[in-house]
Amino acid sequence: MSAAPVKVAVTGAAGQICYSLLFRIASGALLGPDQPVELRLLEITPALKALEGVVMELDDCAFPTLAGVQIGDDPEKVFDGVNLAMLVGARPRTAGMERGDLLSANGAIFTAQGKALNKVAASDVKVLVTGNPANTNALIAMTNAPDIPKERFNALTRLDHNRAIAQLAAKLGVTVSEIKKMTIWGNHSSTQYPDLFHCEVNGENAAAKVNDQAWIENDFIPTVAKRGAAIIAARGSSSAASAANATIEHMRDWVLGSPEGDWVSMAVPSDGSYGVTEGIISSFPCTTAGGEYSIVQGLDLDDFSQARIAASVAELEEERDAVKELGLI
Ligand code: NAD
Ligand code: LMR
Repeated sequence: MSAAPVKVAVTGAAGQICYSLLFRIASGALLGPDQPVELRLLEITPALKALEGVVMELDDCAFPTLAGVQIGDDPEKVFDGVNLAMLVGARPRTAGMERGDLLSANGAIFTAQGKALNKVAASDVKVLVTGNPANTNALIAMTNAPDIPKERFNALTRLDHNRAIAQLAAKLGVTVSEIKKMTIWGNHSSTQYPDLFHCEVNGENAAAKVNDQAWIENDFIPTVAKRGAAIIAARGSSSAASAANATIEHMRDWVLGSPEGDWVSMAVPSDGSYGVTEGIISSFPCTTAGGEYSIVQGLDLDDFSQARIAASVAELEEERDAVKELGLI
């Protein structure tokens, strides 16, 4: 392995998502078996001791792709020169909460981290926010990092995308690899819109194949949109391994390119495509190549889809206004 290590920052490194995520990154699942990575792990001071234990376990895996690990509680030190930043660290919701209820608890984390990235990250940095409410936290980080191009800030809706594929595969009795062009529109929240009208199953339209609007509206959409709450109810804590997997997949595709003939769901700063308010971080169908993403253009949206997207965008506007009110952007 002669390539220079890619510096990957991960926050919330002693938390439950990172207990899956760090080992996948270190093993080469993010950037491949020939690309060494250096991990830069951020935690709050009281969690550093636990993080030392996680680092001992990383050492004990003897991953050939892991070129080094640094830990710390100062974002300006940990983010110094990083090429990729995965912002996971934030409090999760508990039963009965919506993700938006976390805005005031978690929003301030992302002002400080946005400012630190702006100051010390590498000039090619890509930032992916997983910590909830992910879309608006990404907006906060982006707004506090004025020197980093806005399109380098994304939020995670790949978990919702994967959940939607799994639900559709089960409904139609097909494998997940037979499903292409799934889209999550809007917010990573219960207003998100998983869209079957542009999705394909073995090249055929998924909504036509399902042929059951009641299932789409009353079963599929709410099951996908409320899956996070269902996992909290069942497990007693929020999704972790599946969230780590989705975080890897989003960043991997952003860096290395999305599969030919397919697209992925990414929450990205809106350029006004499909009437989504410019500047908010909303999920779209995207393709990626050469380290850049493009929003898929030219999809026809019927009244049903337009209304669903508008409802989620309205929620993102409310969240944006709330964090403005809190002085975070
Ligand atoms: P967790 O509580 O197990 O871990 C969070 C960690 O973040 C803790 O170790 C905490 O000390 C750390 N942390 C808090 N403030 C920090 C700061 N300022 N800097 C660095 N680290 C900090 O939570 P988890 O289960 O790992 O979940 C993390 C976040 O991810 C939550 O907000 C959760 O809701 C969210 N999440 C998002 C998705 C998604 O699809 N977008 C999916 C699952 C979970
Ligand atoms: C999820 O979708 O599993 C996470 O966002 C956690 C949550 O609060 O639902």
